[in-house]
Amino acid sequence: MAAEQSAGLLDSAFYQPANTFFPAQAGLALTYDDLTLSTLYSDILPRNASLDTELAGGLRLHLPVISADMDTVTESRMATGMAINGGLGLIHYNMPEKQQLKEVSRVKNHVHGLIQEPITVAPDKSVGDVIELIETKRYSFSTFPVVGDDRKLVGLLSGNVLKPRYAAKQVTSALVPRDQVQTILESQLGADPIAIADQFFTDHPGINKLLVVDDNDELHGLFTLSDIERITTEKLSQFRPARDNHFRLLCGAAVSTPRNDDGELDRERIVTHIGALIERGADVIAVSTAHGHSKGVGDAVALIREAYSDLPLIAGNVTTAAGVDYLADKGANIIKIGQGPGSICTTRLVAGVGIPQMTALYVASQAAKARGVSLLADGGITKSGDIVKALTLADGVICGGLLAGCPETPGQVMEISGKLYKQYRGMGSLAAMKSGSAARYGHALREANRKVAAEGIEALKEVSENLDQLLAQLIGGVQAGMGYLGAATLPDLRTKARYTRISPAGQKEAAPHDVVEMKASS
Ligand code: XMP
Repeated sequence: MAAEQSAGLLDSAFYQPANTFFPAQAGLALTYDDLTLSTLYSDILPRNASLDTELAGGLRLHLPVISADMDTVTESRMATGMAINGGLGLIHYNMPEKQQLKEVSRVKNHVHGLIQEPITVAPDKSVGDVIELIETKRYSFSTFPVVGDDRKLVGLLSGNVLKPRYAAKQVTSALVPRDQVQTILESQLGADPIAIADQFFTDHPGINKLLVVDDNDELHGLFTLSDIERITTEKLSQFRPARDNHFRLLCGAAVSTPRNDDGELDRERIVTHIGALIERGADVIAVSTAHGHSKGVGDAVALIREAYSDLPLIAGNVTTAAGVDYLADKGANIIKIGQGPGSICTTRLVAGVGIPQMTALYVASQAAKARGVSLLADGGITKSGDIVKALTLADGVICGGLLAGCPETPGQVMEISGKLYKQYRGMGSLAAMKSGSAARYGHALREANRKVAAEGIEALKEVSENLDQLLAQLIGGVQAGMGYLGAATLPDLRTKARYTRISPAGQKEAAPHDVVEMKASS
């Protein structure tokens, strides 16, 4: 007993909880790589650790990771992928307002498992044309609905006939005719289309495609048996998609806060646009700026809160307790922490301002606890271990650069010296500000065309694996961290975290060293 006590005392002298550790470092700001977490007795299997987090009343994620509202990171494709994996995407606002509404609709109308715009072929093509199409577009599937000029379904071209020996034949003479193709009316899909499709495939052994049509027999989608089987298995796993009460994927959107000619916030435009976003199903709205503890941002948050009393509202960015207090007072319920940690940020260099993330998060978390608001650690996350550390103080993380190489981001892949890259740029870079984000950095859009100090750079990210694979790696890493601390849930992780600083030699020791690496791990 005495020995146990002294072991406990020894541990707590070296590895301290947040409330002891951070105040003892006051005056020296720390970020992720400056500290490490100590292990604790554990009876938790990492794969059983839950990553559920509640950011605001009714806004619950199964994965506490959010893709950044940046124009090279989050549009509908990324937001859909994030929500399917249990997280959330914030659609950026460097696009016309109408376009942003469409992007939100795409996420909210996405039926996982229903291919809503299947690739079709025209009846007058030849089988050879279709074989060539598959090769040039590198399609990984080989069954195509055949649709006429009037958009009506003509039949289904099966992969079995896509052979060189049939190349000269017309699609019309090789297809399964319309009356033998299995279809369902879109109006019959109901609230749970996956369950309907699942039942259909059970009732029709040997059929593996089900086409969705409307009353005019125009094609509206395609279910495949393999997708449905994957989803029904996935339903059993703990990483369920993040959905609203109507079973639609969650989606967030960032908004700009435009001003009219006399410098006042353009209330009508802001309220109307947010109203339209909510009507399309947006679950959370973000007011993202470089300096959230400012009159302009506070006024905008208050205006939105006054118009929409129940709306989950993200605001930021701040790095102080007073900043959290201020935005909570104005009505924000989720507050973004981060000034200058981002991989494309130059705020600290340009303005000499900003606080390393772990210190900023600790200070902010004290105010957040008192105010009952949640926190998002925004920027500077480069690996799953950073997420574990951030989640000891925050309710979720926002990632830009970590996701920017995924095929799900907007923008083209480019090849440079044999390597594939995607563009990734700061919203405070000159190019992004000219596309609309100038206000985020306190500049009028017209000023962005003149000389203003950019606080971000334009960069490239090497193309990475797809979002599902990347998030699977991150989830595995975060669950491993929770396993080491014996934390079954994120609130457990926050209670159990014990920190210590690391020396430069300790940082070197933390990464692979003194070996020749053959294959970099992701
Ligand atoms: P990561 O490190 O994930 O950071 O790439 C993404 C976050 O960085 C912020 N952001 C900027 N900060 N200048 C800045 O100082 C910029 O141009 C800029 N663009 C984005 C933003 O908070 C984002 O989520």
